[in-house]
Amino acid sequence: MRLIIQPNYDAISRWTAHYIARRIQEFNPTADQPFVLGLPTGSSPLGVYRELIRIHKEGRLSFAHVVTFNMDEYLGLDAQHPQSYHRFMWDNFFSHIDIDERNVHILNGMAADPAKECADYEAAIKASGGIELFLGGVGVDGHLAFNEPGSSLSSRTRDKELTLDTRLVNARFFNGEVSQVPVAALTVGIGTVLDAREVVVIASGHNKARALHAAIEDGINHMWPISALQMHQRAIIVCDDAATDELKVGTVRYFMEIEKANRLPG
Ligand code: GLP
Repeated sequence: MRLIIQPNYDAISRWTAHYIARRIQEFNPTADQPFVLGLPTGSSPLGVYRELIRIHKEGRLSFAHVVTFNMDEYLGLDAQHPQSYHRFMWDNFFSHIDIDERNVHILNGMAADPAKECADYEAAIKASGGIELFLGGVGVDGHLAFNEPGSSLSSRTRDKELTLDTRLVNARFFNGEVSQVPVAALTVGIGTVLDAREVVVIASGHNKARALHAAIEDGINHMWPISALQMHQRAIIVCDDAATDELKVGTVRYFMEIEKANRLPG
């Protein structure tokens, strides 16, 4: 596990976007061998999307041969719903880059047969050659995608009831009305995320500090799904200073020392 500590949200966004851009450029994707990118929604990745759009508009990065798979979607919201993750992704990212619509995959929250939708999604990921890099955020309770506390750490794409905590946090997108927040979602599993060849998770702000502590300093525990990253050979968490509030001083120093010696991108 690498832990990249940045001063603030903007710095996290820049670091992560440049890291992803570099991975795509080095991969040199083609129509026959596209770069397969897993993507999240939420507040955390917004800055990364803004920065990737900027790099694209400067002519330094193309998404023509990038295939995407989103992490999750609310069950019962159609693609046009203002709070659907379909809308989020098109409004905040896809509409601003040169991605081919046919290369975008997002779970259908209105699927007549959700179990089939999820099985087909897993099959589509497999058929694409597997995910090269999965970008994620983390919930205040340590959830990854919509894998709530208690999720199986080897789970696959499926439907998942949302906890009251998650619905309360996400009520801010539904006029503050928790009753408007869907009670369930379709989500890739922890196993699906761990199958990616690389996983990069962003954690910003003091409210993510407990999740970061569980991810880094405690053992693997299904009550903190993010801790499953400890089993991944290429996992990176990119956080800001505020998110390190619950880490030991020694832990912070240790990871900063490693990165000093390890100056990859920035
Ligand atoms: C949401 C999403 C997650 C996201 C998390 C944190 O419920 N399903 O994919 O990582 O919660 O959201 P935010 O980045 O807004 O803090």
